[in-house]
Amino acid sequence: RRVAILISGRGSNMASLIEAARSPDFPAEIALVLSNRPDAAGLERAKEAGIATLCIDHKAHPTREDFEKAMDDALKEHDIAFICLAGFMRVLTDWFVERWAGRMINIHPSLLPLFRGTHTHRRALEEGVLVHGCTVHFVVPELDAGPIIAQATVPVVPGDTEDTLAARVIVQEHMLYPQALRMVCDGTARLENGKVAFSRGW
Ligand code: GRF
Repeated sequence: RRVAILISGRGSNMASLIEAARSPDFPAEIALVLSNRPDAAGLERAKEAGIATLCIDHKAHPTREDFEKAMDDALKEHDIAFICLAGFMRVLTDWFVERWAGRMINIHPSLLPLFRGTHTHRRALEEGVLVHGCTVHFVVPELDAGPIIAQATVPVVPGDTEDTLAARVIVQEHMLYPQALRMVCDGTARLENGKVAFSRGW
């Protein structure tokens, strides 16, 4: 299975997926890293890892549809079967999401359905939750609302700041995302009738 990773920034989750996919028993190949921002640090990192990269600058496209059509064409050209969003900071239209239904996953830095959207660590601290974490889910049109494939938790400890909490969560993200990608690519987790069907161990 040829996988594309969509990024907008530093690409640390991207790097963990690339690393995991190097393992000979990994059921997917990272075939493309696509950024909507020319200055995304992750692009350099992907190049260094020997992965094909592409920048499709959303600012160079008059409409969201136009931008997504360009991405969709590029994904087809690279024969991509599956998409991982990894810090990709553009909201996708229903058209694009439906086109890739069941074949596009995202990592979000909270225990969904808590804290959809941005500033998840700040909001977790404000709410006083004692357990926080990250979620990998199938992408559906509603933001951060898709069926959950995998989650990992971390404790919130006294004295935590947004940064210390983010640092604790990202360690889990880097372990969780490759596991989740493995599950969807080997068929252990599938999107069926709007829910995740697990075929083993559940
Ligand atoms: C991660 O926290 C991810 O959960 C969120 O955006 C951040 C991206 O970080 N969607 P990176 O670019 O993978 O380092």
